[in-house]
Amino acid sequence: MTAEIIDGKAFAAKLRERVATHVPDFVAAVGRKPGLAVVLVGEDPASQVYVGSKGKATVAAGMESFEHRLPDTTSEDDLIALVEKLNADDAVDGILVQLPLPDHVDDKAVIAAIDPAKDVDGFHVVNAGRLAVGEDALVPCTPLGCLMLLKDKLGDLSGLDAIVVGRSNIVGKPMAQLLLRENCTVTLAHSRTRDLPDVVRRADIVVAAVGRAEMVKGDWLKPGAVVIDVGINRLPPAEEGKKGKLVGDVAFAEADHVKAITPVPGGVGPMTIAVLLRNTLVAARARAGLDPVAGL
Ligand code: GUN
Repeated sequence: MTAEIIDGKAFAAKLRERVATHVPDFVAAVGRKPGLAVVLVGEDPASQVYVGSKGKATVAAGMESFEHRLPDTTSEDDLIALVEKLNADDAVDGILVQLPLPDHVDDKAVIAAIDPAKDVDGFHVVNAGRLAVGEDALVPCTPLGCLMLLKDKLGDLSGLDAIVVGRSNIVGKPMAQLLLRENCTVTLAHSRTRDLPDVVRRADIVVAAVGRAEMVKGDWLKPGAVVIDVGINRLPPAEEGKKGKLVGDVAFAEADHVKAITPVPGGVGPMTIAVLLRNTLVAARARAGLDPVAGL
């Protein structure tokens, strides 16, 4: 393989350390630790793992973690009441409600109830709108992590052709906004895009966030492109009783001609939690009236 493998795990570890080095300043200035509340409704196994990891990482960075695990029978009203309590709690700087929520709860209503100043996921329409019009915003963790990896690899992104495949509110749309803010020429492709392979072939930067195993083929990728694979998909197991292999949205083994590519696992995945800690510190400092930390 001649393509450089982008080590998201190492980058995320360094970002987590950098965030942690700024926590004591906050504690000295404000008299308490930055606090992150994570809310999980139901028992989805993947979500339980994510929420556990988020709590551990928060404590490891020297911050306060508040975990709320609620049964999947929790009503939308009760969940919104908890969010409002967290909005009013001065010890809480960041609120993350783990998605997906059970079908009887409307995610949009719950996200709308979060104080935009504490919206460390960047999902509230106020933060999405601020990002779109170029104001300071809390930005969704996964796309911001992807942008950090891209800038680390390429430096200035100005004028580059970027394609984002997938138009979700969590990744695709904010990723396109972030790349536009960096002066890329951005294409936001989706399931109805015509001639997708040809559109991808023009791009210097490819961000794949569709959730379909190995959909982006090697011959869709321009030699020298930088490829960020956000997908985490489990292939059917080769043998019964075993777990299937984890793969991304890009056919990784076919991509040796690109400049650089993130692996799955170990690429974008670890960045999400590191950026969540960064966003929590950013939100905490802003709420306390402290200046932002330069370069974080
Ligand atoms: N579920 C999968 N990814 C995320 C995320 O980034 N934030 C939240 N709240 N839920 C998720």
